Amino acid sequence: MERDKVTIREVTKRTGDAPRLAMITAYDFYSARFADRAGVDLLLVGDSLGSFMLGYPGTVPVTMAEMIHHCRAVTRAAPAAFVVGDLPFGSYQTSTRDAVANAVRLVKEGGCEAVKLEGGAERTEAIAAIVGAGIPVMGHVGLGPQSEHRYGGYRVQGRTADVAGRVLRDGIAVAEAGCFAIVIEAVPRRVAEEVTRRVPVATIGIGAGPGCDGQVLIYHEVIGMHTGRAPRYVKQYAAVGEQISAAVTRYCGEVRGGKFPDREHSYLMEQSELERFRERSAEPGKPPGEPLPAPHATGAER
Ligand code: KIV
Repeated sequence: MERDKVTIREVTKRTGDAPRLAMITAYDFYSARFADRAGVDLLLVGDSLGSFMLGYPGTVPVTMAEMIHHCRAVTRAAPAAFVVGDLPFGSYQTSTRDAVANAVRLVKEGGCEAVKLEGGAERTEAIAAIVGAGIPVMGHVGLGPQSEHRYGGYRVQGRTADVAGRVLRDGIAVAEAGCFAIVIEAVPRRVAEEVTRRVPVATIGIGAGPGCDGQVLIYHEVIGMHTGRAPRYVKQYAAVGEQISAAVTRYCGEVRGGKFPDREHSYLMEQSELERFRERSAEPGKPPGEPLPAPHATGAER
């Protein structure tokens, strides 16, 4: 069923008592198509595609070219959801000029409606410059997977008062710099609640408890199309990976056993054309091949 396009005006209204925002990642045409049809508000072409589409150990190796390639597939598939593209590691940390240039590419070449970048107080100049160029920016505070080497892995942020204070200051700083919404990742729920209370824009949690204005999860983890352990905050709503394995196992068995393809999955031709073909292609000095089976009621071969 067709639904109204989600615009930034809708996203920015959804704070406080408004219905929560539902965001999910999408990386390719069909993940975006199914999520868009399911009614998701926002799609995030996350740099987590490094792990879930490309088999990298994390997000750090992901390039602008890879992000644009996947953003284009998603934006072609999703007429209704508001599409946000992640600026990958190295595309905005080097200079404000690079940050603006690469944000422009995600919008112009990738078709995204907004960009997301990780970091707090240290990113306010880049955020303000991108917003100044007319591109909405989603912030991302708490755990920033692109900084995994700084944290020594993917670790919950803000379990101590000091770090919780930093997460809060980061949230306030990126909101003041002009972000229209902020992802809060892997922080204790009370910390996310406090950030949500203190910023005027929508917060979208991932591993940040129920107190945010919205939630985001990774598509493959939601549908169960991944191997390996998922973080504690992930709720898996289907077991698509197991269904895929079962379907492909059956397919292999039917191919090997000659059961597939059967008549239903084969192209047929008119009986008369088949007879003419066999006469014309008979080997010299030999009669046409096997006698033909009785014609099908429609005149098509059996
Ligand atoms: O890349 C991504 O998928 C993200 C989410 C974890 C929010 O940034």
